[in-house]
Amino acid sequence: MDGDGQSPTASQTTFSVEPSTALAYLDPHYWDQRFAHEEHYEWFKDYSHFRHLIQQHVKPISSVLEVGCGNSQLCEELFKDGITDITCVDLSAVAVEKMQKRVLSKGYKEIKVLEADMLDLPFSKECFDVVIEKGTMDVLVVDSGDPWNPNPATVSKAMAMLRGVHRVLKSDGIFISITFGQPHFRRPLFNASEFTWSVDWNTFGDGFHYFFYVLRKGRRSSESNGLTEKVEMAPVSLFHDELEKEDYIFRTNLGEVED
Ligand SMILES: C[S@@+](CC[C@H](N)C(=O)[O-])C[C@H]1O[C@@H](n2cnc3c(N)ncnc32)[C@H](O)[C@@H]1O
Repeated sequence: MDGDGQSPTASQTTFSVEPSTALAYLDPHYWDQRFAHEEHYEWFKDYSHFRHLIQQHVKPISSVLEVGCGNSQLCEELFKDGITDITCVDLSAVAVEKMQKRVLSKGYKEIKVLEADMLDLPFSKECFDVVIEKGTMDVLVVDSGDPWNPNPATVSKAMAMLRGVHRVLKSDGIFISITFGQPHFRRPLFNASEFTWSVDWNTFGDGFHYFFYVLRKGRRSSESNGLTEKVEMAPVSLFHDELEKEDYIFRTNLGEVED
């Protein structure tokens, strides 16, 4: 099954989107190959599950950057909700080309889709009201190892991404991060002392709770001192599985999620 819940087409049967190791998610070729075979897959949950949360923070006049759009329908759903100033980026040239064709074919020509690395965002500082990522930061941490003592190289990539997001956000901009990553692992990163944003979160989902983080630039409280917090990250896997699609290993690797 693909993310649409439809049976695979003949061409899809020759390629399995499930990689042999989660480290494949760090490989740009994996994503290109996957997107060549797959038309739509929605990581975690689709827009209908967190629309009520998005609407509290994203207004029709907001300029929005979606980081790592893949072949998700998030940008289309935002557009249908009246948000027209949307820029999507992805590292995969294949995803970008397909997304460009898809939004044009649906008449959403205002949506801009660009090939870009989230570790080196090609935008000037303070140009977006909102930056959104869903499952994209998670890709960076698949090799984090022990969550209580993460690989320094992984921490450094995650921090590079956050630095870029913080830079391109307007002075009162909002970063929305939709993830499995639990607060005790994500908060130390988000609260690094160089960032001026506040950190709050909600959860959504039925049996399992996903996290919807809202980081408001320029709103940091004096209590959230990143210097006192150890930087920790959960190991993340993004394998395909029968339970919650590719969320399954991701969830079991966290090891401490109760439900
Ligand atoms: C787990 S998928 C999430 C896709 C989409 N956001 C969703 O919710 O369905 C991760 C996406 O991040 C993209 N990606 C991986 N590394 C990236 C990077 N360095 N810069 C931009 N995009 C990247 C992949 O190509 C893929 O589309």
